[in-house]
Amino acid sequence: MTSFTSPIPTIRPALPRDKADVAEFTKFIWDGHDYVGEVFPRWLEDPHGILLAAEYAGKCVGCAKVSLIASGQWWLEGFRVDPKFQDKRIGSRLDAACNQWWDEHGDGMLRLMTNSKRVKVHHLSETRGFVRAGEVCAYAAEPLTKATDAFTPLQPEEAEEAAALCQRWMPNGYLNIGWKFAAPNAEAMRAALQDESLFFWWRGRKGIVSAWEDDEEDGNRFIVGMEACAGEDRVQLLEDVRRLASARGSVVLRWMNIMSESILRDLDTAGYRKDWDDAAYLYERRHS
Ligand SMILES: CC(C)(COP(=O)(O)OP(=O)(O)OC[C@H]1O[C@@H](n2cnc3c(N)ncnc32)[C@H](O)[C@@H]1OP(=O)(O)O)[C@@H](O)C(=O)NCCC(=O)NCCS
Repeated sequence: MTSFTSPIPTIRPALPRDKADVAEFTKFIWDGHDYVGEVFPRWLEDPHGILLAAEYAGKCVGCAKVSLIASGQWWLEGFRVDPKFQDKRIGSRLDAACNQWWDEHGDGMLRLMTNSKRVKVHHLSETRGFVRAGEVCAYAAEPLTKATDAFTPLQPEEAEEAAALCQRWMPNGYLNIGWKFAAPNAEAMRAALQDESLFFWWRGRKGIVSAWEDDEEDGNRFIVGMEACAGEDRVQLLEDVRRLASARGSVVLRWMNIMSESILRDLDTAGYRKDWDDAAYLYERRHS
């Protein structure tokens, strides 16, 4: 492993002048599909949490962010090191600084999601005491053109009622809101609603789904991040969601959350097929 002579990389809060460096080096991450360069300017404005940068020889060569989702629910994201400077323990320092910041300023639970093959992140997370809460995967189904009146948009003032329904049907489950996971309490739901997430009651108050829409080159994608209902109703709900996706003009429907034997069986029955080559791990650490 390369060691640094002089100058030595430093970890500090990110600055507006880091935008250009981050935009440049993230072009070479994930075959050019990294989103961090695009969102970084917005992240600099976030008054909660912390956005850290690694600086080396006057340039920003890495970043990582601790974000607040709802009270006591935090999310680690945007963990990146310039490919030219990887494997030199810069990531390790950034991750340590994020965790230290959260130990000092955070509370409740800190979570992150990472690809099941990203061994450096597994190593760092497990060393710091994170536990694997589950394995996440995405399943896709064709939207069905037949109309449905099974769904009603949830209003912010109904969030307590929706959280109670989640508590009833998935007491240990997670809300997936735009790639971030949180316990589905009313505050997290209200925050998600403000952040362009969608929630729908299903068949009156029999169930609830959360979703978001991604506008991609080939058309709109409808992504279901959580479903809660009685176990025996789930296949019907998942089939109805295929009609909802079509009604919203989506060309792709995807379900993404933690896998279990029963959800995999129901997804299969409702016509959903595996859509990712790998899985992802959801990690979490409780504040001491
Ligand atoms: C993930 C990433 C941020 C890590 O940054 P990095 O500077 O290359 O990582 P480091 O050199 O600090 O290594 C991190 C840790 O993994 C360890 N490590 C390295 N190779 C490893 C391996 N094959 N297996 C297990 N651990 C390994 C290192 O020893 C270090 O741990 P230590 O501090 O206990 O010694 C960087 O590789 C990156 O930007 N990847 C692309 C974007 C990405 O996937 N981000 C993560 C999203 S969750």
